[in-house]
Parts: sequence; structure tokens; C-alpha cells
Amino acid sequence: MSAKSLTISSRALLQLVNRAAKYGSRHGRSTVERRPPVRAYYETAKASSASIDPVWTVDLRSDTVTKPGPAMRQAMAEAQVGDDVFGEDPTVNELQRRATDIFGMEAALFVPSGTMSNLIAVMVHCRERGDEMIVGDLSHLHIYEQGGSAQLAGVHSTTVTTLPDGTFDLEQLESKIRHGYPDAHYPRSRLVCVENTHNIQGGRVLPLSFLRELRSMADRYGLAVHMDGARVMNAAVAQGVPPSVILQHCHTVSVCLSKGLGAPVGTILAGPKDFIQRAVRARKALGGGMRQSGILAAAGTLALTKMVGRLEEDHRNAKAFAQALLECDPPLYQVDTAAVETNIVRFSLRDPLLTPAEFCRRMAEVEEGEVRALGRGVRVLMFPHVGGSVRAVWHLDVTEEDTQLAIQKLHFVAQQHVEEHHRAQ
Ligand SMILES: Cc1ncc(COP(=O)(O)O)c(C=O)c1O
Repeated sequence: MSAKSLTISSRALLQLVNRAAKYGSRHGRSTVERRPPVRAYYETAKASSASIDPVWTVDLRSDTVTKPGPAMRQAMAEAQVGDDVFGEDPTVNELQRRATDIFGMEAALFVPSGTMSNLIAVMVHCRERGDEMIVGDLSHLHIYEQGGSAQLAGVHSTTVTTLPDGTFDLEQLESKIRHGYPDAHYPRSRLVCVENTHNIQGGRVLPLSFLRELRSMADRYGLAVHMDGARVMNAAVAQGVPPSVILQHCHTVSVCLSKGLGAPVGTILAGPKDFIQRAVRARKALGGGMRQSGILAAAGTLALTKMVGRLEEDHRNAKAFAQALLECDPPLYQVDTAAVETNIVRFSLRDPLLTPAEFCRRMAEVEEGEVRALGRGVRVLMFPHVGGSVRAVWHLDVTEEDTQLAIQKLHFVAQQHVEEHHRAQ
């Protein structure tokens, strides 16, 4: 579908309104009473853009913004619950059992967030005060988790340089491993953390060959490997393998249910049985022992079992958007389309006069000129990102049609920017 064919003129909009009115009366309801159509398909709560809002929002800030739809809410409402701190919540137990199977791990634990899950993993792997972990310098764990591993777990970090594909150089890693322990000068190297897909690097998928070599080096030095797999299901879909094929190279993994998979809350931490037994204790110490959390786990089970198949759609939409960035005339945008492997697109602006923050502001605002030119206003929400880039993320609530509307807006903003530039000359 071309961006042009999606342009909705005021007349078309009026026709839509009339059609909606007819539908309402035919079904014995007024248009006002009629609820916006839901995408029952993937159980999302978002209405279709064919509803009559004069301003439509396409939210590409993060895959954490999804809202549970009717089927997920129903599963939550009907969940059997018990006290999970006593191990008595059947819905939590069922989610943990399924996660164990899907990830090919011995045991799994439902925790409130990805941040807590990573912190618990660090606490359990690095048990002696001052133990050291090795992390990528652009990893979520290192950049965005408030230094919780130092602040709360007493764990020291050393970094390796995150490469553009989310991996790091294994020789550099080897050079960072401490060999002096128990000499009193040195901490003890215990853990290596990887992130898959890599958030800051734009949803990059770690190659299986990298993970294999990393694991073999870790085994040589007696280190544990933890994967921050907040989006590992995206990686599995992109690589066309079951997640267990990726996770065989890790001792433990943290998988978020509340990102692309669409659950409102929750992360699974998985690993060996004795690791999870210790993780249960750490979770309680951090205040993450929840009680009748089956209400949340019911959504998590739906996310894990029903939402993985559709991640492909997010990847396809992200790629279409990246291609449109590249082909935009006037050529305002710069993107490496080969680096768009999953649901995240990182791009930059060729004109330094237009900052990422100003660009995001323009994408998010609707002015009269846009409504006149395009027949409708579209707010496209994105965030300025690391290194002067902009990040856009696809998820459950962004359809192919939304993607085309966002592309249309990209063109409009580029055109507008060039016209302003000419006027200023
Ligand atoms: C790669 C990665 N790890 C961990 C997290 C933390 O997850 P949460 O927001 O559930 O704490 C995020 C959040 O965006 C993430 O992108």
C-alpha cells in the first residue's frame, strides 16, 4: 500500500463518518453509542485508525506502551489465584512451568520487572561482596538500571565496548577477566552479561556463533553467562529458531512479558533449579514477592503463548519504515536498513540544523497545514536516542496502516523542513 493511497481527504473522512452512522443504525445503535472497533485479532486495546478521530496517534516511543485488550483482561479477571509467596498461586505456577519448557531451562520465576530480574540475576551469580561482572558499556544493565548492581548488590562492574551489532570483542573480554583472586588487590570475576536483542544498538540480534564462543570462553574461566533477554523472543523470531536454541548458550535469562509480547506487567527469570531457589530469596529481599499475582501471570501466559507469532509483523513494519526513511525525497534521513533486524529502528537526520528533539516535536504535533495537506492529523511519537539519533519501536498497537501514516508524516516533516530552509535563504 502506498503512502499516497492512504491519504484520507476530508471527503473520505466524511464518508467514513456516514458509513459509521449507517452501521450504527443498521445494528440498532446510534453512532455515539458505538464503541471503537478493537483489533480482536491480537487482543490489543487500540481502535483502528478507520475510526473517526480527526487526530490519530501512532506511538513509537517504546514497546512498553501497549495496553491489554479484551481477551487478556478476561484471562486476568478469570485467573485462579493463591498466595504466591507461599508458592500457592496456580496461575503463576503454570506460567513458570510453561516458561521453563519454552526457554529450555530447569526452572523459572515470575518477577515484577526486567530491572528487578537482572538485579536478582546479578545478586545470585555474584554472591561475595565486591564480586565483579563484565558488561557491555551500552547495555541496559549498565546504562539504565541506576547502577543497581553496585547500589544494591555490592557488585563491581567492568565494561567491554559494545559493538554496533550488540556483541563485543572476545579478546577484549578475555583481557578484562581477573586472574589475581584471591590476591587481596583484586575482585573476583564471576559473571558476563549480554543483551539480546540489543536495545541501544537498535534491536540487534546476537549471532548464535558469538554466543557459542562466548559460552566456551566463560566455561574456560568459570564465569556464568546471564542474558538480558528482555526482547529475546524478537531475536528468536528474527533468527527463525526456538528460544531454547539461543538460550542453550546462557546459564540464566531474563525475558520481559511487558514489551513486544504485550502483557501489562512482568518478567520471567529462568535458569538452573538452585539458581532459581536463591532467586526466590533475593526477590523477596527486594520487595518483589507478590501475593495473588496470578492476575498478572494470566496475562503473562497469554503473552508468552499467543503473542510471539505476531512479532514478525512488527519486524516487517519496522523494515518498511526504515526503507521509507531511506527513500524519502527530500533526503533528510539516514539509516542503515541492514541493521534493522527486529522491531527497533534507529536513524539520524542529515541536517544538523534539525535536532532529534526538534524533529520528534514536529512529528508529535499537528498543525493546520498538515490537516490541509494530508486530510487528517497524525501525531507520531518517538524519542531522541543515544548518539544524536532517533529511535522508533514497533509493537502490538502499531498496525501496517499506522506505519504508513507515520511514513506519510515523515515525508510531510521533511518537505516542511526543506521549504522553511528555502524561505530562510
Ligand atoms: C534490554 C532491556 N533490559 C531491561 C529492561 C528493563 O525492563 P523494565 O522496564 O521492566 O524494568 C528494558 C526496558 O526497556 C530493556 O530494554
